[in-house]
Amino acid sequence: MHTFLDRVKILDNFYQASAFFPMPVVLVSTVAESGQINLGPYSLCFPHVVTGSGRHGMMLIVRSESNTSVNIQRTGLCAINFIPDTKKFMKNCVMLGYPGETTEEKMKNSIFSLQPTDLESPAGQYRPDLVREAFQVFECTWDDSFPLTDTDGSVEYHFLLRIDRVLIAPKWKACLEKGRGFPKMPVNFGFRDNNQFWFASHSRPYRVPIPAGKGTTLLAVQYACTHYDPDIVWQEDACRKIVQVPKIFLKTVIAGVVKEARSAGITEITPEFMDRVRAKRR
Ligand SMILES: Cc1cc2nc3c(=O)[nH]c(=O)nc-3n(C[C@H](O)[C@H](O)[C@H](O)COP(=O)(O)O)c2cc1C
Repeated sequence: MHTFLDRVKILDNFYQASAFFPMPVVLVSTVAESGQINLGPYSLCFPHVVTGSGRHGMMLIVRSESNTSVNIQRTGLCAINFIPDTKKFMKNCVMLGYPGETTEEKMKNSIFSLQPTDLESPAGQYRPDLVREAFQVFECTWDDSFPLTDTDGSVEYHFLLRIDRVLIAPKWKACLEKGRGFPKMPVNFGFRDNNQFWFASHSRPYRVPIPAGKGTTLLAVQYACTHYDPDIVWQEDACRKIVQVPKIFLKTVIAGVVKEARSAGITEITPEFMDRVRAKRR
C-alpha cells in the first residue's frame, strides 16, 4: 500500500524492537523491605495526568516482579530521579538495570549517592531517599485506584504516580523560570541488537517561535500566569480574559490579579474572580 514505507511486525516491546523511540532515563528510588534504598533505571516513565486540580501524575511501566514494582506496591511511595547525561552514569544505570538481582546485591555496584528527603511521609512509612546527582526529582505516591493491568498474568504493571513534589537544582530552576536553558538529559533508544542499550546526548536545543496569528496568545498568557506565582492556579478561562493585554503590560496585570487573590485568600483564579477584579479597578 505504501510505496515509501515498509511494514514492520509489531513485536513485544515494540517501541524498541519494532520502532525508533526516544525515551528519558530516570532512576526510581524505593524502599526495600529491609529498609535499604533500591534504585531501578526506567525509561517508560511519562507525564500521564497533566492538568486538573493538583492530581498531576506520571505513568511508570514496570516489570511486575521487579524490586521497584514490589516496593511501590508495599509502600505506595517512590521518587523519580532524573539523571544527567554522562556516560559514567548511563553505564551504572545499565548495571543497575540487570533483572533478577536483589536490592542488596545490586546496590553494592551503585555509584550514586543518596540523601534522605524532608517531605513528610504517611504514618508508618519511610519515604525513599533522593539521588544527589539528579538534576530534578519528582516525589510520588502511587494511586492504586488506577488498574495495575488489564490483562491476566501480565508481566508489565502500570503505576499511576501522583506527584507530591517537584524538586529541581537551583541552576535549572532559574532556567525554568526564565523559560531558557536545559540540563544535559540523556536520550535512551532502548535495548537493541540483543546485547546493548543505546543512548544519545542531545545537542544545543534550538528555538522555533510560534507563528504570529495562530491563536497561540492564550498559550503565552497561560505560561506567564502559571509561572508568576506557583501557589496560584489559573483556570484557562481566567487567562483568556487577558489575552488582549499588550505583552509589555502583561506581567503588571498578572501581578495585580495575584495580589488581589492573595489578599482575598484565593488560590485558584476563575473567570468570575477576573471580572470582580476588573469591576473593582473600574
Ligand atoms: C536505561 C534503562 C531503562 C529501562 N527502562 C525500563 C522500563 O521502562 N521498564 C521496565 O520494566 N524495565 C526497564 N529497564 C529494565 C529494568 O531496569 C530492570 O528490570 C531492573 O532489574 C529493574 O530494577 P529493580 O528490579 O531494582 O526495579 C530499563 C533498564 C535500563 C538500563
